[in-house]
Amino acid sequence: MKEVKPRMVTIYYMGKAYQVPEGITIIKALEYIGYRLVRGVGCRSGFCGACTTFYRKKNDYRLYSGLACQTPVEDGMYLTQLPFIPAERRRYRIEDAKADFHFVLSLYPEIARCVGCNSCTRVCPQEIQVMDAVQAILRGDLAKAAKMVFDCISCGACSMRCPAEIVHYNVFQLVRRLYGKYIAPKAKHLASRVEEIQNNYYEEQFKKLFSMSVNDWKVLAEKLQKKESITI
Ligand code: FES
Repeated sequence: MKEVKPRMVTIYYMGKAYQVPEGITIIKALEYIGYRLVRGVGCRSGFCGACTTFYRKKNDYRLYSGLACQTPVEDGMYLTQLPFIPAERRRYRIEDAKADFHFVLSLYPEIARCVGCNSCTRVCPQEIQVMDAVQAILRGDLAKAAKMVFDCISCGACSMRCPAEIVHYNVFQLVRRLYGKYIAPKAKHLASRVEEIQNNYYEEQFKKLFSMSVNDWKVLAEKLQKKESITI
């Protein structure tokens, strides 16, 4: 059978030219050219935010950012990875915190310096409305902000472009925690399930499950897949 060779493209990693197969992700391209990635890589699935990459494209003045595990290489791409974004996370005890704007501002006063340029939103690989979330916090609407930034993976690209030097992902983590602890309605069914578990209500079923054979497990799994009712 005739071997089909991939089309090669030229990328520039930290200024040096390399030939890599077209269409592979930036992470795969870096490994293809011989880098062993220890930092700047994690889940490889677009979830952990460890692989922030900044790049420029051929004949395009703009600076782009993306996740190296999700962004395919292009011919003429100049790129570098940012394995770590320097930023201090302020310390607090969530038990002593208050779910209001003043508490957030006391830890991160720089959010008040937001100039509304929207650079953070444009650079976000998760397509989060980052600037609008900051504005929601400034209006005191922490619930809205927490929901808006649910998909933030703390890659730090927003912070790198912010002229007001806001470290958005640390602020957003705080807001999500405040929302979870003080604002979101409590899940009553979850609380009662936890109580049941703490009172050993399922102990017998657990014992039976752990003593089952592999075959019994398979039968059980099939039933669950077919959404059939099961008794243990
Ligand atoms: S490696 Fe986790 S987001 Fe890219």
